[in-house]
Amino acid sequence: MKIESIDFQSLDTSPATTATGCLIVGLFASRPLDQQGGAAEIDAASSGLLSELAADRELPTGVGKTLLIHKPSGLAAARLLIVGLGKPERFDAAIYARAARGAGKALRNCRATDAICLLPQVELAGQSLAWKTLQAALALDHGDYVYSATRAPDPAAAPATAAVSFPDDEGVGDALRHAGPIAIGIRRCRLLGDLPPNICNPEYLAETAERLAGEIDGLEVEVLDEKQMDKLGMRSLMAVAQGSANRPRLVRLRWRGGPADQAPAALVGKGVTFDTGGISLKPRELMEQMKFDMCGAATTIGTLEAVARMRLPINVDGVIAAVENMPDGQAYRPGDVIRTLSGKTVEVHNTDAEGRMVLADALTWTAQHSKPEVMVDIATLTGACVVALGHHASAVMSHDDELAGELLAAGIESTDRAWRLPLWHDYQEQLDTPFADMKNVGGMPAGSITAGCFLSRFTEGQRWAHLDIAGSAWRWGKPESATGRPVGMLVQWLMTKVGA
Ligand code: BES
Ligand code: MN
Ligand code: ZN
Repeated sequence: MKIESIDFQSLDTSPATTATGCLIVGLFASRPLDQQGGAAEIDAASSGLLSELAADRELPTGVGKTLLIHKPSGLAAARLLIVGLGKPERFDAAIYARAARGAGKALRNCRATDAICLLPQVELAGQSLAWKTLQAALALDHGDYVYSATRAPDPAAAPATAAVSFPDDEGVGDALRHAGPIAIGIRRCRLLGDLPPNICNPEYLAETAERLAGEIDGLEVEVLDEKQMDKLGMRSLMAVAQGSANRPRLVRLRWRGGPADQAPAALVGKGVTFDTGGISLKPRELMEQMKFDMCGAATTIGTLEAVARMRLPINVDGVIAAVENMPDGQAYRPGDVIRTLSGKTVEVHNTDAEGRMVLADALTWTAQHSKPEVMVDIATLTGACVVALGHHASAVMSHDDELAGELLAAGIESTDRAWRLPLWHDYQEQLDTPFADMKNVGGMPAGSITAGCFLSRFTEGQRWAHLDIAGSAWRWGKPESATGRPVGMLVQWLMTKVGA
C-alpha cells in the first residue's frame, strides 16, 4: 500500500501575510502575548484579536485543547488554530509534543488542506528550533493518519492535510528533511498494526518487506520459508507456527548506509500476526486485540523504511519473525520440550508465551547471520508490561547500562519514552524446570522481567536490549489504533549514533 506523509516545507515569508488554509499558533492562556514567541506579530496583524480573546478568557487553557477561528481579519490565513500549551511552569518537551498532537487532531478535523505551523516559535528551555520543528511535524502527521484500508472513506470527513510549512531558520531544513521519512515509517508501522489478521499474516509481512526493498534503492531483503527454517533447526519458532495454516516467514531487511566493514545494528521484531494463545487459549476479551501482536515486526519495518528513506549513513538489519499462534491438531502443547536453534531446550508450560519462543530462535539466527554490533528486540511480549507501565512507556531491559541509557535518552529526545526494568540474575531461577534447560513461563511475579530473562539466554555474548511494547504500541482510546511506537525512539537512537 502506498504511504505518503504530509509534505513539509520551510517558510521564508511572514506568517501573517502568507495565504494558507490554517495558521497554527501555540499559546499559554496565562502569559502576556508579548512574551510568547510569534504571538505578538499575529496579534498586531489581526488588530488585537489574540489580546481580545485573552482578555475575554476565551483562550484554550488545557494542553492540546484548541480554538479554531474562521477568516480571522487582518491575517492572510483562512483559519487561525490556537493551541493551548497549559501552564507555563509545567511546560516541557513531553507537554510540547502533547500540545502538537492536539493541533494535529484539530487540523485533521478542519477543512484546510495546507497550514503554516508556528508551534516551534514557543519558547521551550533546552530544545532547539530544529527539535521543536521535527516534533511538531511528526505530531501533525500523526493526527493526519486515518485508517482506510478496509472501509469506505466517510464522505463527510474533512480532507487530509497535503502540506505544512514552518518558519525557516538554522537547522530547520534538516529537521524537515528528516520529518517526511520518519513520518512515513511511523505510518507504515501504524497501518501494519491496524490491518486485520486475515490480511496481515506472515506472508503479507514478508511481501511488505519485499515491496519496500523493491521501492527504496539500497534496501535489501531476504525471506526464509519454513523449509529453510526447518533445515536450520529453528524448532522453537516453528513450534509456535505449527498450529496455523498461515505458514511462518523469517524476513531480514538490510540497509547498508555505513562503511562496508561496519557491523550492523540489528532490530529483531516479534511478528505474531494473530495470538489466540494456542492450546492455552486466551479468553475472548483478551483475544480481541491480538492482531496487534506483530507491532514489534511493524516497528522493525517502519524503522528500516525511515532509515533507508533518510539514507542514514549507518548499517542496520531488521529481522522479522512472522508467525500465527493458533490452536489445532498440529499445534504445540503445554508439556512439549523443544530444542531451540541455540541448542538449549525449552519446556512449554503455556503456549500463550509464544513471543519468547519465536524470538529465541530469531535472536540466535540474527546473532549468527548478521554478526551485529548491537541487537535490540521489540515485542508486544507481556500483559504484565501493560500492568506495570500502562500505555505511556515502553519497557527497556538490558544487562548493558550504556545501551539501556542510549535507548532511554532516545526515548526522551523523540518524546517516545521508555522506562527501564531490572534484568537481575535473581529472577532467572523462576524459569527452572526438571525437564529442560528452562521453561517458557516464570509465574506471576515480575512477568515482564522473567520474559526478558528468557530472551537473555539466547543473546549471550551480545550487546543486547529488549523492548516490551505491549502497552505503548496500541492506543485503546477512541479511535483505537496502532500508535507507530517505538519507531520514533529507534530512529532517534540510530540518528544519534551517527550524529544526524
Ligand atoms: N501477546 C501477548 C502479550 C500481551 C497481552 C500484549 C496483552 C498486550 C496485551 C503474549 O504473547 C502473551 O500472551 N503473554 C502472556 C505470557 C504469559 C502466558 C506468561 C501474558 O502476558 O499473559
Ligand atoms: Mn501470547
Ligand atoms: Zn503474543
